[in-house]
Order: sequence, then structure tokens, then C-alpha cells
Amino acid sequence: MMRLLLLAGSGEGRQLAQALAKAEVPSVASLAGATRVPEALPLPTRIGGFGGADGFTSYMRDEGITAVLDATHPFADQISQRSAKICRDLDIPYLQFLRPAWRPVEGDRWTFLNSEEDAARYIPEGSTVFIGSGRKTLAKFANLEGRRLIVRQIDDPKEPFPFENGEFLVGRPPFSVTEEADLFLKLGIDWLVVKNAGGSTSRSKLDAARELGIPVAMIRRPPQPEAPRVETVTAAMNWVRSQM
Ligand SMILES: NC(=O)c1ccc[n+]([C@@H]2O[C@H](COP(=O)([O-])OP(=O)(O)OC[C@H]3O[C@@H](n4cnc5c(N)ncnc54)[C@H](OP(=O)(O)O)[C@@H]3O)[C@@H](O)[C@H]2O)c1
Repeated sequence: MMRLLLLAGSGEGRQLAQALAKAEVPSVASLAGATRVPEALPLPTRIGGFGGADGFTSYMRDEGITAVLDATHPFADQISQRSAKICRDLDIPYLQFLRPAWRPVEGDRWTFLNSEEDAARYIPEGSTVFIGSGRKTLAKFANLEGRRLIVRQIDDPKEPFPFENGEFLVGRPPFSVTEEADLFLKLGIDWLVVKNAGGSTSRSKLDAARELGIPVAMIRRPPQPEAPRVETVTAAMNWVRSQM
């Protein structure tokens, strides 16, 4: 009998959980536990890491998982690379749901970066910088001395801001283009630093930046696993049905 593991942790992970529940596919969802109080998913959900590769392999066996649908964030590359590899070794079907990357349109002022550390090469001292990528990667911005940093995250910060030149801003998406534009004006933002997550929900900050003529340092995605991949919820559900 089919038992699907949905690796969730993205907006589309939530949409897929809804689609799986509606289609009554026997499934369990998994969240890393990164968000302290996540909104409940409409599937039985386990929360927290599996305990490394061995933990994941044992989990797959113990729970009798027969297929894995990976809808984690495009920058959650460790879990995706590892899950794809272990599924290959265990001969369990694996599919990655990966939303398309953002592409600039007329009027966008983007500079593409290979890593967070490169932002310092482009953003002049004295700038006020909005960083939309949360606290996990914050350490990588240590070299942005002399700029004021504003880092948005979902949860109330547990710890003080790690550098003297910045502060946290708490906010739970989605945000409209108008909300983002108002925020950037209020904060006096000169630059945005954004990971190329893709998706329509968080595109609003880029649309707001274009409207205001604010330049964006766009961090490229990490390499993705060599595995079957789809870009839409419909295509993912078609794959799920083909596994039943
Ligand atoms: N990176 C981002 O920018 C970003 C943005 C928004 C949301 N997220 C979400 O936040 C979660 C963690 O992201 P990350 O970048 O820290 O991932 P990561 O670097 O790829 O993975 C780090 C570890 O987190 C655990 N993990 C990740 N996703 C999991 C899941 N869905 N269920 C159970 N354990 C999971 C695994 O721990 P074990 O080794 O113990 O199994 C994994 O080794 C992901 O679910 C991702 O979708 C990430």
C-alpha cells in the first residue's frame, strides 16, 4: 500500500498537503521545526529533523514510506540532496517540487550573486539594506560593516542581533506590494538582498523594489539534486497518482 512522505516547509508544501488530503492519498508530512509555531497542515505531521542520513533511512523503513515528494524550499539543499540520494539507494520513488526561479523584468535593477558574502562587493557603505532571508544565513553578512542591516524573520528573535549595525524586523508573509513599498520607504531602504526563492507570494518585495527603483542583490540558488522534478502542484499530483 502507498504511504507518501511529503517533505514540507514551503508555501507549495502546504498546497500539496491540501491536495493530498483532498485526494485521500495515505501521507505523512514532515517539517524541520524551523518555524516555532507553524500553521497546522491538513495531514498527519511529524516535526523536527530525522537525525541525519541514518535517521532518515530508519524513518523510511520504520514508517513503510513508499514514495517521497520533496517540496522543501529551493535553498534547503541539504535535505533535498540527501533525500534524493537515499531514495535512490533504497529504490524508493522521489520527486522534487521546485518552483521556477525569479527572472528580472524591465525596470528591475538586479545584481546576481553566487553567495551572501559577495553582497559586500556591491553595496556601498552608508546604505540601509533590507535582508529578506531570515536568521539562519545572517552570519554570512558579517562583512557588511558600515551598512545598516534590517533582517526580516517570522518569529520574535530569541537572541539579540548578532552585529552592532542592524536589527530584526518581525513579520509573517504574505505581504502585498503596497505594504512592502510602504515599509521600504519608511525604513529608507537603499538595497535589498534576496535569495532567488521564486514563487508569487514573496515576489511582492521585488515588485515594490522595482517601483521604487531600489537595486537588488539576488543570490543564485544552490545546485539541486539530479532527480525528477516538477514546477507545478498539478504536475506533482499527477506523479503521485502514477505511484498509487
Ligand atoms: N533555507 C531557506 O531559505 C528556507 C526558507 C524557507 C523555508 N525553509 C524550510 O525550512 C526547513 C529547513 O531549511 P534548511 O535550509 O535549514 O534545510 P537544509 O539545510 O536543507 O536541512 C538541514 C536539516 O534540517 C532538517 N530538515 C530540513 N527540512 C526538513 C523537513 N521538511 N522535515 C524534517 N527535517 C528537515 C534535516 O535535519 P536531519 O539531518 O536531522 O534530518 C536537515 O539535515 C525546510 O523544510 C525548508 O523548506 C527554508
